Amino acid sequence: EKGNHRHYMIKEIYEQPEVVARTLAPHLDIEQAPALDWKAQQRLTITACGTAFYAGLVAKYWFERLGRLPVEIDVASEFRYREAPLPEKGLMIVVSQSGETADTLAGLRYAKAHGQTVLAVVNVPTSSMAREADLVAQTHAGPEIGVASTKAFTCQLATLFALALQAGRARGHVSAQEAQALAETVQRVPGLMHEAMALEPQIEALARDLAKARDVLYFGRGAAFPIAMEGALKLKEISYIHAEGYAAGELKHGPIALIDETTPVVVVAPYDHLFEKTISNMQEVAARGGRIVLITDEEGAAHAHIDTLATLVLPKMDPLVAPIAYAVPVQLIAYHTAVFMGKDVDQPRNLAKSVTVE
Ligand code: M6R
Repeated sequence: EKGNHRHYMIKEIYEQPEVVARTLAPHLDIEQAPALDWKAQQRLTITACGTAFYAGLVAKYWFERLGRLPVEIDVASEFRYREAPLPEKGLMIVVSQSGETADTLAGLRYAKAHGQTVLAVVNVPTSSMAREADLVAQTHAGPEIGVASTKAFTCQLATLFALALQAGRARGHVSAQEAQALAETVQRVPGLMHEAMALEPQIEALARDLAKARDVLYFGRGAAFPIAMEGALKLKEISYIHAEGYAAGELKHGPIALIDETTPVVVVAPYDHLFEKTISNMQEVAARGGRIVLITDEEGAAHAHIDTLATLVLPKMDPLVAPIAYAVPVQLIAYHTAVFMGKDVDQPRNLAKSVTVE
């Protein structure tokens, strides 16, 4: 039930601190985590669709950073037909809320037929993917009713972070002490997500402006890039405003041609080692009259020195886990823009909750 909330989507956004914490607990427990031979892996393959694909893209940064494990990732509708050569006795991760998405399931079957051990990160434990995979890492988001995925996404991120940590530990790139510290770091994320909800009134006001736009561009660097794409997907799904997510470094390679006063630019930029680079891209946007929505933390806000339409300030956090908490403001932006426009956020036109035909 929706309880006091107007829509399932906002209820599910608010549930995130609780369900992310619930998801993390078993996956951070080495005893309970799926037993995988991380040491034997040369490369990891990930496939998924839509929002689950963006969770996989964030995970690529984590597996490469923490596990020094190369990752190949593709949307399942491409992967299933590419006849991709896969490493001998390799490991494949499929990510899916429903566990029924036709293309992802076909990707899983392809991987199994090609000798891969398949780990399914799924929310529905009785789903086809859960049944057909060799191993399951369940996300404990609970039933997700809103067609636009929110809590399933952050639970996927939490699970994948725990898996990357496990990989790093097993492969000898993360010491026991570092693993303990990183586990504590990620366990603080639910509290940070809760704090991020305080941005809601500011985002509600901003939504009135965004609702007038025909196009909105989202930018991010590093693991913030998939969060930019997720923000753009969320906005287009429920408000029908055209939106695209780009790697900030791609600005000059095309998207800068779109910048003018009518095209808001949302930039996802935690204060990390890439911050200055992203901000210099945003100075180019500002110089062309672009109106910027900067999503950052206090340090980022102090160092940005750019005029913005709005600066959304999140609490300070380890940049490694920032993608999980930074999902919250991009979800709220999409939600409030669509609600202000009077759209049916829980049942957007043309979309199905689970895409069981290709
Ligand atoms: O059930 P799945 O996670 O496999 O679904 C994948 C996509 O269909 C899904 O994430 C879709 O993109 C959502 N509508 C995103 O909000």
